[in-house]
Amino acid sequence: MTAFQQLQQQLQQHPRHWLVTGCAGFIGSNLLEALLRLGQRVTGLDNFSTGYQANLDEVRTLVGEAAWANFHFIEGDIRHPETCQQAVNEVDYILHQAALGSVPRSLADPWNSHDSNVNGFLQLLIAARDAGVKRFVYAASSSTYGDHPALPKIEDRIGKPLSPYAVTKYIGELYADVFARSYGVSAVGLRYFNVFGPRQNPLGAYAAVMPQWFGALLKHEPVYINGDGYTSRDFCFIANAIQANLLAATAPLEKNHEVFNVAVGERTDLNQLYRWIRDAVAVADPSVQEIEPIYRDFRPGDVQHSLADISKANQLLGYQPTHRVPDGLAVAAPWYIQYWRDQR
Ligand SMILES: NC(=O)c1ccc[n+]([C@@H]2O[C@H](COP(=O)([O-])OP(=O)(O)OC[C@H]3O[C@@H](n4cnc5c(N)ncnc54)[C@H](O)[C@@H]3O)[C@@H](O)[C@H]2O)c1
Repeated sequence: MTAFQQLQQQLQQHPRHWLVTGCAGFIGSNLLEALLRLGQRVTGLDNFSTGYQANLDEVRTLVGEAAWANFHFIEGDIRHPETCQQAVNEVDYILHQAALGSVPRSLADPWNSHDSNVNGFLQLLIAARDAGVKRFVYAASSSTYGDHPALPKIEDRIGKPLSPYAVTKYIGELYADVFARSYGVSAVGLRYFNVFGPRQNPLGAYAAVMPQWFGALLKHEPVYINGDGYTSRDFCFIANAIQANLLAATAPLEKNHEVFNVAVGERTDLNQLYRWIRDAVAVADPSVQEIEPIYRDFRPGDVQHSLADISKANQLLGYQPTHRVPDGLAVAAPWYIQYWRDQR
C-alpha cells in the first residue's frame, strides 16, 4: 500500500477539518472534491475573481448531498484580516490555493497579482499563526526557479524571478520560512509544475496552454504555439497535486518549513503535447486531425524548459505520482469535450 493509500484510509476513519482557499478555482475545487469524497469537513474561501460558482456546483453533483453537507463556503477575500480569522476558525490543516495566477496577467497588472498573492498570503498566514493550525500548506510555483539553468530543478537551487508573478510566489515562500522560524508555524510550500485537469479554466486571455488548446480545437479556431514547439514542461495531472497536498498536510516533518516540487519528473515538449491533445479531441471530432498549429513568438517571462526532480517529495512525503501526461489527458479530454458541448 502506498503512503497516500494509507493516508486516505486514516482520514476516512478520523476525519479532519480543512480550509481550502481558492476553492472555486481549478486546483481548489479538485481538492475540495477529493476531501469531501474522503468524508472530511471542509471550509472553503473564494472571492470568485478567477473562480466559478459552476465549479462548486459540479463538485456538489459529483460528491452528493451527504458529503456536501460537510462543506461550509465563505465568499470573501484573503486580503481582509477578519475574513481570514473567520475562515481558519477550528481548522486543522490549511491548503492555501487562492491567488491570481498567470505570468502574462502579472506583467499586465503587477499590483493586483501582488495584492492577492503577497498581501493576501500574509493575512492568511497571520491568521493561521494566531489560530495555531496544525499545518499551513500553500501553493508555490515552479516559476520560482526563474533563470536558473540547471535541469532537473532541485528545490534549493533557484535563480532570479522572470515575472512579477514569480516574485509574488517567492515572497510567499520567504514569509512562510520566516513564520516557521520566528513563530513556529508548520508550513509546506508546493512548487506546482503546470498542473492540468478538469475544471482548469479554458476561458479568457490568461488561460493555461492545455485548456486553451482544447477549446481552440473543439471550436475549430487557430491553435497557437509560442516559440518553436520545442519548449518543454513537466505537466502534472491534478490527481498528483491532490496527493501532494494531502501528504504535505499530514506527513511528520523534522523542519518547520519545507518546499517540494510537485510534478511527474518527465518533460513533454509543446509539439508532442499538441499531438496528444489533438488525438484526444479527434475521438469526438475526427476532423481536427487536419488542424496544424500556428507558431508565433516566444512569450516574455516564460522559461524555455522545465523539469522537476521529485525525489525530495518522494523521500519526505512518500509522494508517488499516479498519472503521467497521457493518463491525465485521458481524464481531462472528456471533461473539455463535455464542457464545450454544454456551452453550445
Ligand atoms: N495551475 C497551475 O499550473 C499552477 C502552477 C503553479 C502554481 N499554481 C498556484 O496554484 C494556485 C491555484 O491555481 P489554479 O490554477 O487553481 O488557479 P484558479 O485561478 O483556477 O484558482 C484560484 C482561485 O483563487 C481565488 N482567488 C484569487 N484571489 C483571491 C482573493 N484575493 N481572495 C479569495 N480568493 C481569491 C480565485 O477566485 C480562484 O477561484 C494558485 O496559488 C496558483 O498561483 C498553479
